[in-house]
Amino acid sequence: MQENKLAKIVSLCARRGFTFPSCDIYGGLTSLWDYGPLGVLLKKNIKDSWWKSYVEIRDDIVGLDSAILGSEDVFKASGHLSGFNDVLVECKECKKRFKVEHLEDATTAGAKCPECGNNIDFKDTPPREFNLMLKTSLGVVKDSAQTAYLRPETAQGIFINFSNVLNTLHKKIPFGIAQIGKSFRNEVTTKSFVFRTREFEQMEIEYFSSPKDSQQLYEYWRSERMRWYVEDLGVNKSNLRFREHQKDELAHYAKACVDIEYNFPFGWKELEGIASRGDFDLSQHSKFSKKDLSYLDTKTQEKFLPHVIEPSAGVDRTFLALLSDAYFEEEVNQRKRVVLKFDKRIAPYKIAVFPLLKNNAEIVEMARKIYDDLKLTRQVVYDDTAAIGKLYRRQDEIGTPFCLTVDVDSLTDKKVTVRERDSMTQERVAADNLAAYFQDKFI
Ligand code: GAP
Repeated sequence: MQENKLAKIVSLCARRGFTFPSCDIYGGLTSLWDYGPLGVLLKKNIKDSWWKSYVEIRDDIVGLDSAILGSEDVFKASGHLSGFNDVLVECKECKKRFKVEHLEDATTAGAKCPECGNNIDFKDTPPREFNLMLKTSLGVVKDSAQTAYLRPETAQGIFINFSNVLNTLHKKIPFGIAQIGKSFRNEVTTKSFVFRTREFEQMEIEYFSSPKDSQQLYEYWRSERMRWYVEDLGVNKSNLRFREHQKDELAHYAKACVDIEYNFPFGWKELEGIASRGDFDLSQHSKFSKKDLSYLDTKTQEKFLPHVIEPSAGVDRTFLALLSDAYFEEEVNQRKRVVLKFDKRIAPYKIAVFPLLKNNAEIVEMARKIYDDLKLTRQVVYDDTAAIGKLYRRQDEIGTPFCLTVDVDSLTDKKVTVRERDSMTQERVAADNLAAYFQDKFI
């Protein structure tokens, strides 16, 4: 049933313009998705909410947009070229490769191939490490081309700019640097829609502090990030939980890590990781670049490498969590209604405006005027391409909180019908009071 829900969400996303398989007209490219007109709006609302909460309204965090490509040196220092690996095993029969940690029935001797059922003997085909970094080369002359890598996390761009930010803005610790951007990993397992893809978007904060404050800040960021999902995005609390990492599953840079997990249609899985990175990254980059990246406490004259707490969230996984949370099927007048009950703040369109009769010039004029006014403050859509029932169903399916219809009566009583998505209740509202009416609804 739950897996079925994922298939329904994927189909709705294609039907309504949230996502399209990438390179679709050429048969697609594995594990890459393009975001359509509705998808970009939803993603933008997620990113705007995060940016507002952590950069705009706080004095202690500043933003950054670093390059996506990085030199070999950066990723040697960060440990990604040597340590960012999946352990894979190949099935001799069907030639498919699998992550050993994902093979449910794996023992030290072998496992059953999930694709063709063949027995994989680990003595015959020993599991091997496979690096997830995507490599490219810069420059036009082949021999002198420089090797570069697509970043596997936005974090390294922050660490290598730590002293640039410090020296230009004179920030005092504790302070953070935040970045939203694309990251790339040559992932092996890429099922489950946008959950695990080879190109994805992250929202990361590296929060620098004195080593003695780092434990307390780790606790703070755990609860602050959980708060954001529940209070700012409106995610159902019962679909979120923490999962502490065991020592043997920590990433190469982490001293401690906790995941915020979401109850996806395919089970509880990581939505975000909050890691205590210590001074691993600044220390590595100091060593490899031979640049002093330490911080001077002007009060105590003490010089040290700050410790880092890193809340690292995925835009695409948040996108999928919001769709999973909002997707409902209801029975209305013996018909199935599919509705996305997004929180009003993150819904792609806030209001849809319809003229009941598209051939009536006066109705159209009034509807266009209302639309032109409302779109100055909110994302509003105008639609006259179907009968009213169909227009409502379309907006329900993309999660628009309010539909507004101009009808024949509107021309005389100067009122319009406003229908609310979840309750489907309708009320007549004075056309000249719509700005105040919606201001109230969107608080
Ligand atoms: N800088 C730390 C870091 O990158 P991570 O746990 O590997 O940590 C953080 O990634 C978040 O980025 C994940 O919780 C997830 O939301 C997102 N993410 C990671 N790999 C992804 C992938 N292949 N596809 C989609 N999202 C991904």
